[in-house]
Amino acid sequence: MVLSKYFLFATLLMALVQGDDNNPTGFLSIDCGSLDSSYVDETTGFTYHSDEGFTETGENREIVNAYKVQLQTNERQFRNVRSFPEGIRNCYTLKPTLGDQGTRYMIRARFMYGNYDNENLAPTFDLYLGVDFWDTVLTQHAWNRVNKEIIFFPKSDDHLYVCLVNTGHGFPFISALELRPWVDGNQTYVSKSGSLGLFQRSDLNPAIDQVMRYKEDVYDRLWSPLTGDNRFVPINTTKGNNITKNIYQLPSPIMRTAYEPNITIHDDNLGILIDPSNSSAPLLYYFYFHFAEIQELRKNESREFTISINGNLTHGPLVPIYLVTNTVISTSGGTNSDGKIHVWLNRTQNSTKPPLLNALEVYWLTEFTQQETNQADVNAIQNIKSAYQVTKNWQGDPCAPKAFLWDGLGCSYGGNSSPRIISLNLSSSGLNGVISPYFSDLTMLQALDLSNNSLSGTVPEFLANLSSLRILNLKKNKLEGPLPSALLERSNDGLSLSVDANVMGNLTPPPTTNQTSSSAEDWCRKNKFVVSLVASVEAFLLQFVLSTS
Ligand SMILES: *[C@@H]1O[C@H](CO)[C@@H](O)[C@H](O)[C@H]1NC(C)=O
Ligand SMILES: *[C@@H]1O[C@H](CO)[C@@H](O)[C@H](O)[C@H]1NC(C)=O
Ligand SMILES: *[C@@H]1O[C@H](CO)[C@@H](O)[C@H](O)[C@H]1NC(C)=O
Ligand SMILES: *[C@@H]1O[C@H](CO)[C@@H](O)[C@H](O)[C@H]1NC(C)=O
Ligand SMILES: *[C@@H]1O[C@H](CO)[C@@H](O)[C@H](O)[C@H]1NC(C)=O
Ligand SMILES: *[C@@H]1O[C@H](CO)[C@@H](O)[C@H](O)[C@H]1NC(C)=O
Ligand SMILES: *[C@@H]1O[C@H](CO)[C@@H](O)[C@H](O)[C@H]1NC(C)=O
Ligand SMILES: *[C@@H]1O[C@H](CO)[C@@H](O)[C@H](O)[C@H]1NC(C)=O
Ligand SMILES: *[C@@H]1O[C@H](CO)[C@@H](O)[C@H](O)[C@H]1NC(C)=O
Ligand SMILES: *[C@@H]1O[C@H](CO)[C@@H](O)[C@H](O)[C@H]1NC(C)=O
Ligand SMILES: *[C@@H]1O[C@H](CO)[C@@H](O)[C@H](O)[C@H]1NC(C)=O
Ligand SMILES: *[C@@H]1O[C@H](CO)[C@@H](O)[C@H](O)[C@H]1NC(C)=O
Repeated sequence: MVLSKYFLFATLLMALVQGDDNNPTGFLSIDCGSLDSSYVDETTGFTYHSDEGFTETGENREIVNAYKVQLQTNERQFRNVRSFPEGIRNCYTLKPTLGDQGTRYMIRARFMYGNYDNENLAPTFDLYLGVDFWDTVLTQHAWNRVNKEIIFFPKSDDHLYVCLVNTGHGFPFISALELRPWVDGNQTYVSKSGSLGLFQRSDLNPAIDQVMRYKEDVYDRLWSPLTGDNRFVPINTTKGNNITKNIYQLPSPIMRTAYEPNITIHDDNLGILIDPSNSSAPLLYYFYFHFAEIQELRKNESREFTISINGNLTHGPLVPIYLVTNTVISTSGGTNSDGKIHVWLNRTQNSTKPPLLNALEVYWLTEFTQQETNQADVNAIQNIKSAYQVTKNWQGDPCAPKAFLWDGLGCSYGGNSSPRIISLNLSSSGLNGVISPYFSDLTMLQALDLSNNSLSGTVPEFLANLSSLRILNLKKNKLEGPLPSALLERSNDGLSLSVDANVMGNLTPPPTTNQTSSSAEDWCRKNKFVVSLVASVEAFLLQFVLSTS
């Protein structure tokens, strides 16, 4: 049973590796700020794309040469960055390409400042995944490589926003964005609820002092080398690459090496101190201990140990099996009184050998609770944005979070339901062309201000279908009459409608002579039009009088 499950996932993974573009299906790799539109990465063999088309703002910058020459061959993505000197929130829009809800993804954002702006001030800024705060990016030094990674279920299969938010500590920037589907039948890195953000992923006693990733790791996790001091004794096996994998699919080169405690210096126990002081304070940590026995023990030898976190015994006694990967998961709430997490692997009394550890991952649980804007509203406003090539800084989710509401939009926020767009003000926004039918897709709209643009054509009847609409301002455009009667009816029924006089002019055969706005007014007056509206729509009268004075 276990075996057949393993084969199933192995086959699935094999299938994934057959994607287009050199990339396994659903893998998306973006080299932010790259000047090459695409290239094949030497280490992974993945095709990396430039971020053209994934973001609308920011500028390409190059890190300074002194840092560029220090990069390993598998770190090409750090050579360029995209920097965002303008605006508070700037976003990337990705599409989870497997396209069915229920697929988990791992997303990774990578940052290396590299003094690209010659300011020698490594910035700190916030990162959002969609509408939710993800983490703070603290770059600290020009040479630091910062990775933010999270395993999550996308809220929508239509779009995935990754947003960088300027918090007043330098301009946000980004080096790379990597999206990986996590197709494992929900077997690994499962949390009760929420998503798992990576805190640390370490290869203890690394065979080479370099980050390991794809192709060694089918999931393209990044394994950071963790080199211990003389309190740790490095051990390894020469028994080749054949360490039996479990569902976590740890690469053999990671499992082939491990640390034991240096019993001459300390005692028989292996301690790991985790300092989360610079990360947002999560409530729950998930620990993944990966181990395999890599020494051939004699008959009279044994290795047995317990795992405890902050003094709480979480597992044991455990006996690693020779050349077989075993993964043990522990959760721990919070830190000790010293602000740190103390992990101990302690030898049991019966054990002749000290504990060992091959690899360790620490995640923190994060709950993404913010609601995204109603999908139909998102589609409508996106269509409006592209129809008129709106040049406002309209990025990420339109309504959420509230602090980053799109300029010109008003939204309603109702507890557990999706925010809805209830007002749209595109006055003086340089709009050309006819009034787009997409406006009528914003079905909750209460106010629409399109005044002072160059909109042409007639006023469309579909605007009358917006049943909540109370304010409609179309003044100072190049619109023509006639005004649809349905809209006129609405204006008798509480809609404050503002249009230029000439639009009114076409209600019945207009004056064919040399027409001015005042002749249109005369005409309207003759038709008792204004009079009939006075009682119900003060706003309209006000606008009308103003335009003709
Ligand atoms: C994984 O979990 C999600 C959410 O609970 C579910 O929609 C999906 O069907 C699951 N996938 C598999 C393969 O079980
Ligand atoms: C494995 O251990 C031996 C000593 O026991 C050492 O000489 C060798 O360099 C180690 N190899 C690796 C890859 O760590
Ligand atoms: C273990 O500790 C002793 C005493 O400090 C030291 O001489 C030895 O080099 C250490 N072993 C390793 C592998 O660092
Ligand atoms: C790996 O295991 C297979 C059998 O499972 C064996 O034939 C092969 O020699 C092993 N390779 C190494 C390098 O140990
Ligand atoms: C936390 O941030 C401070 C200030 O940037 C830095 O000095 C310190 O080394 C950081 N601590 C850790 C554990 O990263
Ligand atoms: C195990 O037996 C070997 C001899 O076969 C001996 O040298 C060694 O000290 C013994 N180890 C332990 C822990 O008793
Ligand atoms: C240790 O275990 C106790 C009892 O299960 C629990 O109340 C406490 O929160 C745990 N402490 C940590 C640091 O996990
Ligand atoms: C594990 O060992 C350390 C160091 O020897 C000790 O401080 C700690 O109390 C031990 N933990 C348990 C649960 O025995
Ligand atoms: C430890 O050894 C004692 C005696 O040698 C034995 O009775 C006991 O079952 C062992 N305990 C474990 C956990 O193996
Ligand atoms: C739209 O915005 C302009 C300023 O940009 C403002 O004068 C006008 O009152 C707004 N319209 C509505 C309906 O709020
Ligand atoms: C109308 O728009 C133009 C630019 O499109 C702007 O210069 C002007 O100030 C706007 N007028 C009003 C009244 O907002
Ligand atoms: C409108 O009439 C004025 C004089 O009353 C004349 O100067 C102007 O050319 C006419 N315009 C058009 C478009 O006929």
